[in-house]
Amino acid sequence: MSKPRLEGKVAIITGAASGIGEATVRLFVEHGAFVVIADVQDDLGNQVAASIGLDKVSYRHCDVKDEKQIEETVNYTVEKYGKLDILFSNAGILGSLPGILELDMDNFDNVMNTNVRGAAAAIKHAARAMVAKNIRGSIICTASVSSLIGGTGPHAYTTSKHALVGLVRATCSELGAYGIRVNCVSPFGVATPLACKAFNWEPSQVEANSCAVSNLKGIVLKAKHIAEAVLFLASDESAYISGQNLAVDGGVTVVNNSFSTFLH
Ligand SMILES: NC(=O)c1ccc[n+]([C@@H]2O[C@H](COP(=O)([O-])OP(=O)(O)OC[C@H]3O[C@@H](n4cnc5c(N)ncnc54)[C@H](O)[C@@H]3O)[C@@H](O)[C@H]2O)c1
Repeated sequence: MSKPRLEGKVAIITGAASGIGEATVRLFVEHGAFVVIADVQDDLGNQVAASIGLDKVSYRHCDVKDEKQIEETVNYTVEKYGKLDILFSNAGILGSLPGILELDMDNFDNVMNTNVRGAAAAIKHAARAMVAKNIRGSIICTASVSSLIGGTGPHAYTTSKHALVGLVRATCSELGAYGIRVNCVSPFGVATPLACKAFNWEPSQVEANSCAVSNLKGIVLKAKHIAEAVLFLASDESAYISGQNLAVDGGVTVVNNSFSTFLH
């Protein structure tokens, strides 16, 4: 195996009991990190931790909508492992699908509270812990292709992911003084429970749909591909990269294929 890229690093990953977060826990541990899984799905989170090894991974119940629970998770991590090097703020929900004419404002608030307020609180407490110990840390948030273009997700979700990019840029500007980097990744459609439940589809149907509308052909986007991008942003290989929104989307947000029949 090539040299581990996170040897001895300590990470918190929110929303890590499932999907992209879980894949990232596994990859981080393969690369030598200790990881705290922060999620609300206790059984699943404990199962993921146990399946990897409790010497490397622990599970903490943490609802990102509750700042106190985030603070306690950060404190637990620093007490247990002595420091915090990496925050992967990944917890997110899609919310309900109806359009603007039927917009449910409670659902809008819930999506914003989880996807934006939750990430802000996580960055706040992780950055405090990093600054207190002089750690030149790396913070990564999961945005989405819905942070770059409209029409790829429900309105509240798209709004929240655009806001998340603003949060990343704003905090990048402040935390650079401490040597802390802040970036986000923006995945295209991955067959996780979030995507499957939204349409009541099987993973194979989500993947078939993503492939049908993708730009990059001959490859099926998996959670592992997102985890690889997060690993890059967490590791020293991205030592001078901050404030970026790295799309893991095969180019779908920068092309408009409706012109291709005319051009080619
Ligand atoms: N799957 C996709 O196609 C896709 C595309 C772009 C972006 N994303 C983003 O990726 C991230 C991860 O989603 P996923 O696709 O892996 O879905 P997922 O449902 O498998 O994972 C999301 C995890 O977040 C947890 N979570 C939800 N609310 C929480 C809260 N309040 N506090 C703590 N944890 C909470 C869930 O329990 C779950 O384990 C989300 O931010 C999502 O918006 C997903």
